[in-house]
Amino acid sequence: MRSFLLLSLAVVCALIATVQAGQNWAVLVAGSDGFYNYRHQSDVCHAYQVLKKKGIPDSNIIVFMKDDIANNPQNRHPGVIKNTDNGENVYPGVPKDYTGEDVTPQNFLNVLLGKDMNGVGSGKTLKSTSEDRVFIFFSDHGAPGLVAFPGKMLYAKDLIQVLTQMSKEKKFDQLVFYLEACESGSMFNKLLSDKLRIYATTAANPFESSYACDYNSEERAYLNDCYSFNFINDTEAVDVQKESLSEQFDVIKALTTQSHVCRYGDLSIAKQPIGNFLGNSFKYNYNGLFNRQRPVPAPKGTANRKGISSRDVKMDWLVRQVSAANDVYERTYFEKELAAHKRDQDVADTIFGAFSDAFELHKVREAREIRLNGSNDDRCTSDNAVDVDCIKSSVEEFEDACGKVNEASIKYVAYIRDACEAKVPSQIMGEQFKKTCSLLNH
Ligand SMILES: *[C@@H]1O[C@H](CO)[C@@H](O)[C@H](O)[C@H]1NC(C)=O
Ligand SMILES: *[C@@H]1O[C@H](CO)[C@@H](O)[C@H](O)[C@H]1NC(C)=O
Repeated sequence: MRSFLLLSLAVVCALIATVQAGQNWAVLVAGSDGFYNYRHQSDVCHAYQVLKKKGIPDSNIIVFMKDDIANNPQNRHPGVIKNTDNGENVYPGVPKDYTGEDVTPQNFLNVLLGKDMNGVGSGKTLKSTSEDRVFIFFSDHGAPGLVAFPGKMLYAKDLIQVLTQMSKEKKFDQLVFYLEACESGSMFNKLLSDKLRIYATTAANPFESSYACDYNSEERAYLNDCYSFNFINDTEAVDVQKESLSEQFDVIKALTTQSHVCRYGDLSIAKQPIGNFLGNSFKYNYNGLFNRQRPVPAPKGTANRKGISSRDVKMDWLVRQVSAANDVYERTYFEKELAAHKRDQDVADTIFGAFSDAFELHKVREAREIRLNGSNDDRCTSDNAVDVDCIKSSVEEFEDACGKVNEASIKYVAYIRDACEAKVPSQIMGEQFKKTCSLLNH
């Protein structure tokens, strides 16, 4: 009898220990600013609402966003951010942890490492332990080996280093990272070890752009990014204890038809229910015992929701604003913005046309096409990792010589990747940039 009681007590304690072990944490980041980039902050706001609904408390959700959309003079419905046509306002209640000037790569990395934020923003920082699950969602522009923050870049080199350090310092049991950006696969491909207990999915492979969806002429903005909305809407709709990360991956992949959704890292994590990361269900179920019916993929060549390459959004958006302008003042304003953006594009075309010629980069691109032709993994993992050191130092050379990477030039970071692949030293690239840009400035 006595031993039975003791045994029962032990079982109860073990159960309590299982149930109480660990917490869920989430870090949500929109890396852009400006009304034409409405969708990134909208994605993050909607993701916040869903995670909260699925049980993660505000104390454990850390939000980075410029916060220049809801009350932007161009917002026709002040205080309102929508993530889908006829959707709810996703802005109310979103924590303003890091807004405005505090949305920086360094603050993001410091938060991940759980550093004391010393009065910056809300000061909220990741206090996760070796028993906790961490979910990170980032939505913004990107390029090979980097993703953008307002006016600054977060390089793959630094992100991978910090994720590795977090893993070493046991800042999580497991971590899941969802990344929306152009060429986002390049942030993880052959860089993210499968030993770190990190599982990542990306909106695009290392060689293509990601897509914006749902232009809304009432809000006058693209409301969401296709991949981001597909995962957020799915999470909102399902029982998060009954769908696995792997099943969700299949759903997102089937719905995101214009880019190739990829995954990296420790894929065994994907057997768990999404609620272990995008909620607080925290079931220790590693067996993938889920059987949600698979969505039927859209027939080849058709999109479930028609998107536009993120690279083209600014131009498209400005053209739409010119034609939707209510009066001559508005029209003139947007015409000027459009002309300025076209000038930026011409400048970027000139700089990188000369750059490509100087280092014969067409040869690198042709060799890649031959090398990757017929690869059957959507090009997610079929090529080598980007040279993270070379990309970081060469983009810095570019910025020194020609000014900040902008909405027009970011697509040409792919050329810098190609020059790195051809083993052109950063300093030589820098000299080439100086040559072209000093001519342009005269
Ligand atoms: C969002 O998810 C619901 C439930 O799965 C679905 O009915 C709806 O069509 C989705 N919305 C969009 C815009 O795809
Ligand atoms: C790729 O392979 C296909 C079939 O093997 C061939 O027809 C095509 O020309 C190749 N493309 C390139 C760029 O090498």
